[in-house]
Amino acid sequence: VDRNLNLIEEIKRLKKEKNAVILGHFYITGDLQDISDYTGDSLGLAQKAANTDADIIVFLGVHFMAETAKILNPNKKVIIPDLKASCSLAESAPKNKFAAFKAKYPDHKVISYINCTADIKTLSDVICTSSNAEAIVNSFPKEQPLIFAPDKNLGNYINSVTGRDMVLWDGACMVHEKYSLEKILKLKEENPGASIIAHPECEKPILIVADFVGSTTALLKHVEKSEKQTFIVVTESGILHQMGKDNPEKTLIPAPPNDSTCACNDCAYMKLNTMEKLFLCLEHEQPELHLAQEQIEQARKPIEKMLEISA
Ligand code: 13P
Ligand code: SF4
Repeated sequence: VDRNLNLIEEIKRLKKEKNAVILGHFYITGDLQDISDYTGDSLGLAQKAANTDADIIVFLGVHFMAETAKILNPNKKVIIPDLKASCSLAESAPKNKFAAFKAKYPDHKVISYINCTADIKTLSDVICTSSNAEAIVNSFPKEQPLIFAPDKNLGNYINSVTGRDMVLWDGACMVHEKYSLEKILKLKEENPGASIIAHPECEKPILIVADFVGSTTALLKHVEKSEKQTFIVVTESGILHQMGKDNPEKTLIPAPPNDSTCACNDCAYMKLNTMEKLFLCLEHEQPELHLAQEQIEQARKPIEKMLEISA
């Protein structure tokens, strides 16, 4: 504990000295969320990154999020505690395979979920996150054929709410695919008054039984304003930290993964971020994220288009 307290003091000192800002996603551990200057969902974090006047951005999340921050701030230093913090969705779409897939649909526009590499962003017309996907899709005329990548679950969900028939890339989040409908229904049986809330990266059968579907920020807002007392939370367990802080009187039940007796479902990539690594990263200003100038220029357009639509 002492070591952590010292680290926290050191991190605060370095942050000030270097004019650095710490941006953290809701899936990192609670101690790291608490030391972040801003926590948010992917859209909020991208919006914050677009407007910061810090010299250094420290990203506590995963690689594609830090890439987005770098694309929006080519002249700033973007650092990340562990470069191995990837994402199964981003990894599901390698550039060459995606380019070949896209070539099969020359009339289609490409909407890519922000959980993709900078390379995929360069091949996209517009980016979306789970909080603005519906609005981004609806910004295209009904007759415009669309490709949605890389998350087939979010794509399927948006197809169902918009009545579209977007062509979907076959990618998924390894964390959200792990939920078991059976275990969720059992929890509901044991807690009949509970509300099931889920992230749209979950598979269809789960989204069908969910009482509310939304991004991490949308889930937090929903629990805060809901009259319900008990929630079965079907998303990565890091969110319980903020949800618990906002709603100390409510009961939050994490949905368990299907493959173990563990109650929590963690994103191993998000959990690569630790206090120790954050301290080292701030002190040495590395690992630093680098992208090619051309890649930045091409990937910036679809991100800016998203920010414009979501302003
Ligand atoms: P949001 O915070 O945008 O809902 O994204 C969830 C996620 O899986 C990030 O990787
Ligand atoms: Fe990627 Fe899923 Fe982890 Fe989010 S929770 S970073 S989508 S692997």
